[in-house]
Amino acid sequence: MNKQIKALAVFGTRPEAIKMAPLVKELEKHDGINCKVAVTAQHREMLDQVLDLFGITPEFDLNIMTPNQTLFDITAKALTGLNEILDQEQPDIVLVHGDTTTTFVAGLAAFYRQVKVGHVEAGLRTGNKYSPYPEEMNRKLTGALADIHFSPTRVAKANLLSEGVDPDHIMVTGNTVIDALLATVRDNYTFNYPELDGIDYSNRRVLVVTTHRRENLGEPMRNVYSALRKVVEQYSDVEVVFPVHKNPKVKEIVDSVLGNTPRVHLIDPLEYEPFINLMNKAHFVLTDSGGLQEEAPSLGKPVLVLRDTTERPEAVQAGTVKLVGTSYTEIVDTCSKLLDSDEEYKKMANAVNPYGDGKACERIAEGIKYFFGIKEDRPREFKID
Ligand code: UD1
Ligand code: UDP
Repeated sequence: MNKQIKALAVFGTRPEAIKMAPLVKELEKHDGINCKVAVTAQHREMLDQVLDLFGITPEFDLNIMTPNQTLFDITAKALTGLNEILDQEQPDIVLVHGDTTTTFVAGLAAFYRQVKVGHVEAGLRTGNKYSPYPEEMNRKLTGALADIHFSPTRVAKANLLSEGVDPDHIMVTGNTVIDALLATVRDNYTFNYPELDGIDYSNRRVLVVTTHRRENLGEPMRNVYSALRKVVEQYSDVEVVFPVHKNPKVKEIVDSVLGNTPRVHLIDPLEYEPFINLMNKAHFVLTDSGGLQEEAPSLGKPVLVLRDTTERPEAVQAGTVKLVGTSYTEIVDTCSKLLDSDEEYKKMANAVNPYGDGKACERIAEGIKYFFGIKEDRPREFKID
């Protein structure tokens, strides 16, 4: 009889869903693997947007989100809820993604039940425990719990090797975010949002902005938004599109600094499809997000990262991403350079693809089969030429 692996994909936030959705879809194609989905719903609306788009109906939904939740709330509720799901489901492997608190807790719950853990997007590191917070520690702890590490790049693999992880248990796959992006981006896209369709993309320079990092709440975010205000005042052809994260603490600061500023469009989080296609029309991107640092370079869009550290050095090396931190002066100066000088802009606006080739999910599926002995050959690794 052919062996069937029971997998349980567990995720809870928007970026995890975007990066796990193509994997869930890929696993549906593999006879040897039966994959179910459990969501903690650490995010609610922002998660549901992605589930709807990809047509995924989770078998289990813990629905844990509360307004202004703390790390303790998420950890405690998810751990107890997942215990029951694992007891009922008895999977062979739990698949988790990246570095959220859902990720770490799902890894921990699986370990407590002695179920194997597959970590997708494994091995990213800044080396700074508090930056990003709590993500750097979440991914290190998940790495310690994992049995198979699906690293997006060779840099990520090297990080794991330097921590003593067995190389046989690491596979370089590329990042699943590129699988999702390639399936979503389209030329001549129209939005169906009057505010976005009303912008003249040929004659305006559109800056796309997102922020949400816990360590940036308060003064750092205030500085970022004040800098943006200054840039918009200085350049009359600039429009800012800023889909504001649902975290009420973020929204409050955004509204207080940027509310009612001409040419600054503060909108609700966009669905993934319009968001990617908005980035595709943008002049450049300012963000503290992890995922955007992977997506924008592959669309050839310069990215200014509103953080002091990054776990994604590949696009910095390629010249498309620059770390600008949260200093008012640094942000205004760097934006001005990009807006004043074609040469400076062209230096950064290169389409680079260090993060994937759209086949990461296929490699992960084959990797799981190899790990469980139902496929003889190790999948070929993702390589950048
Ligand atoms: C979480 C992750 C972070 C990830 C980010 C992606 C942790 C600790 N943080 O941060 O790693 O990069 O998601 O966006 O795992 N909210 C809503 N509706 C939503 C989503 C959030 O109302 O759909 C509000 C709630 O009030 C919630 C708050 O946002 O309490 C914060 O959500 P939380 O998941 O704790 O933190 P994020 O900053 O979103
Ligand atoms: N994104 C989206 N709608 C938005 C803003 C972002 O769908 O309005 C997507 C974006 O394309 C990326 C992901 O959400 O794939 C990034 O999520 P976030 O910034 O919340 O988290 P991080 O990447 O920092 O973990």
